[in-house]
Amino acid sequence: MPPRRTDQGHSDRRRSRHLNGRSVLLETRVFHPEIDKNAIAEAAEIIRRGGLLGIPTETVYGLGADALNEDAVKAIFTAKGRPQDNPLIIHVPSCHWLKKYCRDIPDTAYRLAERFWPGPLTMILPRRENVPLLTTGGLETVGVRCPDHPVTLAIIEKAGVPVAAPSGNTSGRPSPTTAAHMLEDMEGKIDGIVDGGPCRVGVESTIIDLTVTPPRLLRPGGLPLESLREVLGDVVVDSAVKHRMSEGEKPRAPGMKYRHYAPKASVTVVTGEPVRSAAYISSHLAEGDGVICFSEFISEFAGHIVHDLGPSADCLTQAQHVFDALRTFDSTGVTRILAQCPDEKGLGFAVGNRLKKAAGFMVVDVGKKPFVIGITGPTGSGKTSALNALKRLGARIIDCDAVYHEMLKQDSALQKEITDAFGDVFNREGLDRKKLGSIVFSDPDALNRLNSVVYTRLIPEIRKLVYLSDESVVGVDAINLFESSLNSLCDRTVGVIAPAEIRVKRIMERDGIREEYARLRIGAQKDEQFYRRSCTDILMNDSASLEEFENKAYAFFCHMLKRKKEEDNHE
Ligand code: TXA
Ligand code: MG
Repeated sequence: MPPRRTDQGHSDRRRSRHLNGRSVLLETRVFHPEIDKNAIAEAAEIIRRGGLLGIPTETVYGLGADALNEDAVKAIFTAKGRPQDNPLIIHVPSCHWLKKYCRDIPDTAYRLAERFWPGPLTMILPRRENVPLLTTGGLETVGVRCPDHPVTLAIIEKAGVPVAAPSGNTSGRPSPTTAAHMLEDMEGKIDGIVDGGPCRVGVESTIIDLTVTPPRLLRPGGLPLESLREVLGDVVVDSAVKHRMSEGEKPRAPGMKYRHYAPKASVTVVTGEPVRSAAYISSHLAEGDGVICFSEFISEFAGHIVHDLGPSADCLTQAQHVFDALRTFDSTGVTRILAQCPDEKGLGFAVGNRLKKAAGFMVVDVGKKPFVIGITGPTGSGKTSALNALKRLGARIIDCDAVYHEMLKQDSALQKEITDAFGDVFNREGLDRKKLGSIVFSDPDALNRLNSVVYTRLIPEIRKLVYLSDESVVGVDAINLFESSLNSLCDRTVGVIAPAEIRVKRIMERDGIREEYARLRIGAQKDEQFYRRSCTDILMNDSASLEEFENKAYAFFCHMLKRKKEEDNHE
């Protein structure tokens, strides 16, 4: 973000605000503490004299003011457009300040502070009378946190008062994780903002209510629930974290009842295993929809406005991106956003909660992806019997060759690409195989080009069929499993092979051809070594009959599925 200085564009920053019945013009100063030695003292002075100051923290930017000054606190509510019953948390520079503003402090509060402060944890404790009811939204409790940002800690120390600071967004909008975000919402409404760089965590603090037994999680945040449980043991998760509050229900954290983090577009959150949620989104996208997805899946949504949440396994990056993702859609024409969502482990709980709140809890859960077994092998090895065995076990079989032929008939984009590359090879009945064959079989470059056109279109189609299957096991039947990269969709790849002499006999019988010709066909195919090298498993067909082999294949797949179940239970 380019630094914005106070000596440029004053008029832009001047807006009128209505405060206590007066119209006030404010010039929002931007402080750069890393280059301006006086920044901390001047920022602290704003707090001391009852002004409003944007402060950087490790979670999100806050809209800070003296928590003990009722006028200053009122001004926070006005600038944010925040309902008065939604309490503010107060920020202190260390746990030594706890007893100044809280009473009946349990030992656990000090243990948590010792382990996690400064850091993304807010504790709810009984308030002392010096904390105005205006600050606590009328509650007898107060939220306290010690933020992990050296500049803000220095400002609070210097100001000598606890700083009340909600997130620095206009009420209802996504929280700001850069000074620029906060200026978008607050320029002209606050006295200054301290630019401390992008927030390291990116989602707000975890809120734990210590006034009840067992302690209650009111908001998942930058400190994982697992870490809290290490210190506290039992922690109850408040129902407002997981569900939309119904009409008239009174949440324990008053903020929970308001729609939050909402971009202008509607949001639908898709939970479940990432490959499956990606397949779900790509098959439900309409023109003009936007997508928030994990980095691995960006290319699946070409033609749409896509925001990268970060790698599916990296919740910290997701936390850093989630508000920016929601916010930046506002400057586009997108009216509906479909979002992939992490599971509830670690920081994923907080990231998912922010997405779900942005969606007003409009959530589709697509669950686990099926277990995918790719099956390949040279002709005459008994692949069909192996597939029959898998079918008997309840698997869905996807015949990639059949899908390809269907696409040749239906997919006009594929037809066009083939025509562009190889001339007019379609007639009224469809593809003229002889004509195309005569081009590609004599020219290896042409064959490569055809394969690349076909595989590029085939893979997304097969991917959707595979990952959206209702069956828990899917067999992908593909002769060119590896050449097409369809193996990348598979958990296991099985090469069905058979001794050459047996294959010769079978092909002769099956296709009614002479031995010489059968040997020629086998010679033109990949050898056994290729499958032994490429596949995760080999299924050898040296059985006396097809029936015997099918039973062998059945036992083989039973064993594979049993192993998979054991692995799942182990996790
Ligand atoms: O990371 C954070 O916590 C950021 C930074 C700036 O520190 N602050 C922040 O504040 O997220 P805010 O106001 O946007 O969210 C605080 C939430 C609100 O939902 C509020 O209702 C709840 O905490 N809260 C505050 N005091 C409470 C209390 N005494 N009892 C229950 N909930 C409380
Ligand atoms: Mg907030």
